[in-house]
Amino acid sequence: MKTYAAYQAMVEEALPRQLASLGSIPEPLHQAMAYSLEAGGKRLRPVLLLAACDMAGGSLEEAMPFACALEMIHTYSLIHDDLPAMDNDDLRRGRPTNHKVFGEAMAILAGDGLLSAAGELMLSAAVRMDDQRGVRAAEAILRRAGVTGMVAGQTMDVTGEGSEPTIEKVSYIHLHKTADLLTAPIEAGLLLAGASGEQVRAGTEFGQRLGLAFQMVDDVLDVQGDMAVLGKTTGKDAEQGKLTWVSVRELDGAREDARAQVALAVKALNQLDMDTNFLKTLAQSTLERVQ
Ligand code: IPE
Ligand code: IPE
Ligand code: MG
Ligand code: MG
Ligand code: MG
Repeated sequence: MKTYAAYQAMVEEALPRQLASLGSIPEPLHQAMAYSLEAGGKRLRPVLLLAACDMAGGSLEEAMPFACALEMIHTYSLIHDDLPAMDNDDLRRGRPTNHKVFGEAMAILAGDGLLSAAGELMLSAAVRMDDQRGVRAAEAILRRAGVTGMVAGQTMDVTGEGSEPTIEKVSYIHLHKTADLLTAPIEAGLLLAGASGEQVRAGTEFGQRLGLAFQMVDDVLDVQGDMAVLGKTTGKDAEQGKLTWVSVRELDGAREDARAQVALAVKALNQLDMDTNFLKTLAQSTLERVQ
């Protein structure tokens, strides 16, 4: 196993290479895609994928196209999430949002480009493998990103604005808009390493609970975070009537529930006969995160 920073550095190095492997992209499209992709960010999802694969004895080289594809999908979700028609945000990853720099049309197309590039990268990696692991990993990622996953969660987030917040509604939103994209890397990383169904199920439970805690903390940071450190605008959720964990449980309740989810996430890892320390430490650090 490596450190978070080491997996992160591998992702930073691989992302432009993976993008370039697709061939010649028209300059305005490439610029808009690369602007958001190379803006940094924690790279949490690809790091999780590499770590899950590594932990289960898989190959990091084989996993890299899937890790980069997942970061592309996440980045597309942020570009579209920030659009005026969605959350209407001006700041992301410490920079002006994509549509502020390139205009709405290019921001929409950059998102479309990143999503389709992700599919292409995963499937071309999968066809190079002589078994089904790559296909299954790609399927898991696209399902978690799609119409029963992240897009479903974003739909309920946007259509729920201003409505009465309930635990049921916010749980659905958080499980799908956020937890699905944190579950996908664990599932895909384990599938690529050839893990058993039982192991993938335990990993899935970990990912879902980690994801719920991650979004609970995101909701707290929207109220209490430091904009300069966070790299995105604060105070917008309440202003827009968003269905957040804070809106149903207040700040203390949200922090308490995040702690409980992390404890359950860590417990789920005990079902795995592997060195799970990296994932345990990462889950704990989610509670203290400031960005
Ligand atoms: C932001 O995700 C969107 C949420 C699901 C809360 P991250 O907090 O992982 O953002 P980056 O990738 O580090 O910018
Ligand atoms: C993020 O939810 C979910 C996505 C799929 C992008 P938010 O709207 O709370 O994320 P931030 O706070 O803008 O990063
Ligand atoms: Mg949003
Ligand atoms: Mg948003
Ligand atoms: Mg938020």
